[in-house]
Order: sequence, then structure tokens, then C-alpha cells
Amino acid sequence: MAFTIKVNGTEHRVDVDDDTPLLWVLRDVLGMTGTKFGCGMGLCGACTVHLDRVAIRSCVTPVGTIGRASVTTIEAIGATNAGRRIQRAWLDLEVVQCGYCQSGQIMSASALLANNSRPNDSDIDNAMSGNICRCGTYVRIREAIKHAAKSAAATGKGS
Ligand code: FES
Ligand code: FES
Repeated sequence: MAFTIKVNGTEHRVDVDDDTPLLWVLRDVLGMTGTKFGCGMGLCGACTVHLDRVAIRSCVTPVGTIGRASVTTIEAIGATNAGRRIQRAWLDLEVVQCGYCQSGQIMSASALLANNSRPNDSDIDNAMSGNICRCGTYVRIREAIKHAAKSAAATGKGS
């Protein structure tokens, strides 16, 4: 079955079953391998992308449910204001360890910052609780989100 999906601002025609997870389409059909496979069951957050600016788990999102919504992946998140600030903060605070979970972490953090320019600890915990890091980078992730929020506040740009 053929679908047209909009990913990172570009429309792509894909010929897959309608219950094919978006993650498979991104990685295996479109070759966008920045989004990672972790659990395949919506439990780890490694596969997080944005659907109309909301963080979702692409491993449990059938491509047939996307319709005209816009998908944003780690490959393009740096083109958004919040994504650029989050990525800058990740570098400034040297968040990454092995890196496997980090595209998902960045996508969840970017969605949070785009919707809440001054997240407190509880906001951060709520937004990030579904993103697992086996390397335990949680403390640096929280500090980096606060760092990004401060830089957004300094310029008055949150999204
Ligand atoms: S791979 Fe999607 S939540 Fe784990
Ligand atoms: S940095 Fe290794 S799993 Fe998160």
C-alpha cells in the first residue's frame, strides 16, 4: 500500500503495509538511521520523533495512522529553535556517553522546551521519564535542559 508522508519538510511516497511502524519506514525505507531501535514496544524512548511537534514513539506508531501530520526526526531537529538550543546544551554539558539513547533524549527534550520555555524539575521528569539511558546520563540531561532553557530565556525564544 502506498502512503505519502511528510518527514523533515519533504514529502515521501512509501510503499509499505499500513501497520508498518514509522520507525521501520524512517530507517529501512528512507535511510534515516538517526532514530534508534531499542525495545520496539514503546518502553525505552530510543525511537522518539515528533509528530506535529509532539514527541511520540515511532516503534509503536503505524505509518497508516500518520495522515497529513508532519514528522520531524533527529536529522532535522537542529533546524528548530528549541532543537538547536538543546543540541548546543548537550555539547556544552557533554551529556553523551555511549550515545545510543541520545537522539530520543534530544527529541523529547526539544518537544518539552518548545512547549515550556522554563521547565522545572517536575516538568523535566514528566517529559523525560519514558526515555531510558543505560549509561545513566540523567543528571546531565536535566542540567542541559535547564541550560537550554536559560539560553532561550535570555533571547526570548523558546520554540
Ligand atoms: S524502540 Fe520505541 S520505545 Fe523503545
Ligand atoms: S548514553 Fe548510553 S544509553 Fe544513554
